[in-house]
Amino acid sequence: MPAPRDSYNPDMHVARTLPELTHYCARLREGRTALALVPTMGALHAGHRALVDAAVGTGAATVTSIFVNPLQFAPTEDLSRYPRDEAGDLATLDACGCDLVWMPDVATMYPPGGATTVDPSGPAERWEGSHRPGHFRGMATVVAKLFGQVRPDVAFFGEKDWQQLQVVTRMVADLHLPLRIVGVPTVREADGLALSSRNRFLSEAERRRAPNLYQALARTAQAIAAGGSAAELLHAARAALAVDGFGVDYLALVDGPTLEPIATAQPRARLIAAARLGTVRLLDNIPVG
Ligand code: PAF
Repeated sequence: MPAPRDSYNPDMHVARTLPELTHYCARLREGRTALALVPTMGALHAGHRALVDAAVGTGAATVTSIFVNPLQFAPTEDLSRYPRDEAGDLATLDACGCDLVWMPDVATMYPPGGATTVDPSGPAERWEGSHRPGHFRGMATVVAKLFGQVRPDVAFFGEKDWQQLQVVTRMVADLHLPLRIVGVPTVREADGLALSSRNRFLSEAERRRAPNLYQALARTAQAIAAGGSAAELLHAARAALAVDGFGVDYLALVDGPTLEPIATAQPRARLIAAARLGTVRLLDNIPVG
């Protein structure tokens, strides 16, 4: 049963500077047991709404950040193409019962003279870590800054970006940061495609083929859990996706928290995949067994 919502602030506030953020966070903390943070890069969809709903549902005062973080885009990735929809995002967050939206600009997040970044290893090393060099350094740095700015008791991240969730969880443990990380299950379209801000760039034909990634994961996970040879099943799934027109960056069986490759099903096993369809790179993952 969610705790009753705060009554002093029926309307959602928007903070664009650090003094505004500090002011509103202090007010939100009055009489509330917890402050929750949902970090996002905007262009919000039902997957983000599930994160905000989960935060609001705990009864915590909920802060959602919207910041398209240049530091987590490689020079080859098109930062300027990342979708933005400030008016739509604010309306969505208002409707979800979010209390405060934190929308810093780049100069606020990265003031001149900054000399410190967070460089995660362990779960950050493989997969996205090797396909997108520097991505997790940029992600972990901005998330650490958001934690320092908002000082939440709890933060919500989607399981859709499984490796990101593990990197953040590891960082919080390693740096003894005083907050809890909660993972929220992936939200999917009816045909299985995991929601992503980038899905809007799929052509009609690509959109029809895109759910094949999830179907390949689901089929493979089931067969591995039933005792099939993981190596053979993964090989067959990659080959089938290639025939469907996917450029498969990886499709692997890993230990969920560490992202280390494993050979057989076990309780923490996860299938993870990244594959390109046209100009869109799709990420997905599911538990095995
Ligand atoms: O998942 C995202 O949208 C981003 O990586 C995050 C966590 C907001 C950091 O920029």
